[in-house]
Amino acid sequence: MAELMKGLKRTHRCAEITAANAGETVTVMGWVQKNRNKGGLVFVDVRDRSGIIQVVFEEGKSDEALIEKAAKLRAEFVVAVVGEVAKRSGAVNEHLSTGEIEIIPKELRVLAESETPPFPVEENVKTKEEIRLKYRYLDLRRPDMQRNLMMRSKAATLIRQFLANEGFLEIETPILIGSTPEGARDYLVPSRIHQGHFYALPQSPQLFKQLLMCSGCDRYFQLAKCFRDEDLRADRQPEFTQIDMELSFVDVDDVIDVNERLLKELFSEVMGVDVPLPIPRMTWQEAMDRYGSDKPDIRFGMELTDVTEVVRGSEFAVFKGAIENGGSVRGINAKGQGAMPRKKIDKLVSFAKDYGAKGLAYLAVQEDGTVKSSFTKFMTEDETKKLMEAMGAENGDLLLFAADKNKVVWAVLGALRLELAKQMELLDKDEFKFLWVTEFPLLEWSDEENRFMAMHHPFTMPMEEDIQYIDSDPGRVRAKAYDIVLNGNEIGGGSVRIFDPDIQNKMFEVLGFTPEQAKEQFGFLLTAFKYGVPPHAGLAYGLDRIIMLMAKADSIRDVIAFPKIKDASDLMTEAPTTVDAKQLEELGLEIVAKE
Ligand code: AMO
Ligand code: AMP
Repeated sequence: MAELMKGLKRTHRCAEITAANAGETVTVMGWVQKNRNKGGLVFVDVRDRSGIIQVVFEEGKSDEALIEKAAKLRAEFVVAVVGEVAKRSGAVNEHLSTGEIEIIPKELRVLAESETPPFPVEENVKTKEEIRLKYRYLDLRRPDMQRNLMMRSKAATLIRQFLANEGFLEIETPILIGSTPEGARDYLVPSRIHQGHFYALPQSPQLFKQLLMCSGCDRYFQLAKCFRDEDLRADRQPEFTQIDMELSFVDVDDVIDVNERLLKELFSEVMGVDVPLPIPRMTWQEAMDRYGSDKPDIRFGMELTDVTEVVRGSEFAVFKGAIENGGSVRGINAKGQGAMPRKKIDKLVSFAKDYGAKGLAYLAVQEDGTVKSSFTKFMTEDETKKLMEAMGAENGDLLLFAADKNKVVWAVLGALRLELAKQMELLDKDEFKFLWVTEFPLLEWSDEENRFMAMHHPFTMPMEEDIQYIDSDPGRVRAKAYDIVLNGNEIGGGSVRIFDPDIQNKMFEVLGFTPEQAKEQFGFLLTAFKYGVPPHAGLAYGLDRIIMLMAKADSIRDVIAFPKIKDASDLMTEAPTTVDAKQLEELGLEIVAKE
C-alpha cells in the first residue's frame, strides 16, 4: 500500500471538482464505475462518496501505455488518477454535477483490483435485499445508501451541537445492566464471574437518566444504543438508536419547547424544510376518536365519524349487538370510491378482519345516487338517509363501518384509513406533518397478564386532576406523557416523571408489584429519590425512524449501516452463532435441545 500510494496525495473528492478548476492538475481516488473503450479512446467514470467524474484517455493527449492500462480497468477496481481538469469536449451530462468537465489523465494507478461484484453498484438497484445485506459493504457503496449515511451523520452532528448549545451534557450510560421485566423482552448476557447471573442490555437509558437528574446533571442527552427483543417490522430493529434526553426543573411545556426548536433546526438544516411552530397538539382521546390511532397521519383527512347515536334503534343485528355490548359504530368516508368493484371491497373486508374486525359494513353511493350496500336491507329508508347525512355522503362516495368494542373499531378503521390513503395515493413523502399526542392513559389493561400495565413506563406522572381516580377507576387516569408523531410514525415519546415517593409506591401497587418486588427491581432509584430528587421530565426519539422519513426510505434498515433482518439475524456476519463448548462451560451454561 505504501508503495502504491507513494508520491500521491488526493486533492479533491470526485464531485468537488467544478468548471472553476479547469486547467488545474488534480488527483482523485475512488472506484471504477464503468469504462467504455471506443478504440484509442477510453472513458472511465471514477466514483467516490461525493459522486462521479469522467476521465478521458485519448490518443494524442495521453500516452499509449496509459490508454492500454485504462482499457483493462474493470468495475470496482480502486484507482488513483492524476490529470488536468478540462471542459468537456463532448456532450455535457446534465445528470452529473461534474457533467460539464472531465479529467485528461497524466497518471493512472490501480490501487486494488476487484472481482465482478454480485450486483451492480448503482442507484436504485433492484437487487434482493438478502443479497444486498449479505454484501452490505458493497451495498453501502451505492449512492442512495451513501446519501442516507451522510444525512444520518449530518443530523447526528447537528443534534449534538443544538443540545450542547441548550446546556445539555452528553453522558454515556452502561450497556451491561440489570434486567427489568417491565416493557419489552430483554437481551440477556450471562456473567462468567457470577455464574447463573445475567446482565441485560438496556431497552433504554431510562433509569440511569433519571439518576443523573438526582445527581444534579440538570440536562442530559445521549445518542444511545437500545436493545429490545421484540418482533421486528419495517420500523423496528432489535438494536436501534435513541436521541435520549432528560431535563430537571421542568414541566411538559418546557420539554415540548426545546424539542420543537430542535426539530425545526434539524429539518431546516438537513432538509431545507420549514417546520411551522408551534407543532399542533392533540390529546390521545381526540386522536383515537378522529383517526383511530395514537399516531395519526394528518397529511390527509378521511376522519372517523361516530354514528352510534345515529344507528341506535336500528334493527341491523351487527350494529345493535355492538351497541348493546357497550361498543360503538363508526365509519369513514372514502371520497370518490363509490364505484370500487365488489372484489376490491371484499379485499378491504378481509384487511379489516386482519385487524380484529368481525366484518366491515359498506355503503357505496353510485354516481346516479343509487346505493349498493351490505346492510341497508336491514334498515329503514329514513335510517339509511340519516346515516348517509351523518357521514357527509355525496354521490360517488364509499362509506365503510365497523361495529365493535371501541378498541377494535379504532384499530380497524385506523388501519383501513391508512390503507385507503395508500390506494388513493394521498400520501406525499415530501410533506412533513408533525403532531404532539398528549394526555395518554396512564395504564392499559392487559388481558394476557390480567392486570394493568404502564402504557409508557412505571415512572410516568399521572395528571394531577386524575390522581383521585387511581384506586376507583385506574383506566380513567391520564398521564403527563407525550409522543411526537411525524406522518403517522411515532418518532419519539416521553413524560414527566413521578418524583413523589407516595405516588410512585401507589403506581407500583396499581401495577401489581409487592413492595418487595418494587424494591428488588427499582430499589436503587427509590433510594436515590430519598436524597433530594428534582422534578424532571424527558423524551427519547427513535433516530433511525427520523432519518428513514428524512431519507424517504421505506424501512429503517436503509438508514442503518449494518441492520438485522426480520428473524433478528445478520446475513453478513451470520450472527447469532453457536459458541465453543469451552465458552459455555466457563459461563456455567448448557444448551438444552428443544423437543
Ligand atoms: P419509547 O419506548 O417510546 O420510550 O422509545 C422512544 C422511541 O424509540 C423508537 N423505538 C424504536 N426504533 C426502532 N426500533 C425499535 N425496536 C424501537 N423501539 C422504540 C421510537 C420511540 O418513539 N425511555 C423512554 C423515553 C422517555 O420516557 O424519555 C423510551 O424508551 O421512535
Ligand atoms: P351479516 O349479517 O353477517 O352477513 O353481515 C352483514 C354485513 O355486516 C356484512 O357486510 C358484514 O361484513 C358486516 N359486518 C359483520 N360484522 C361486522 C362488524 N362487527 N362491524 C361492521 N360490519 C360488520
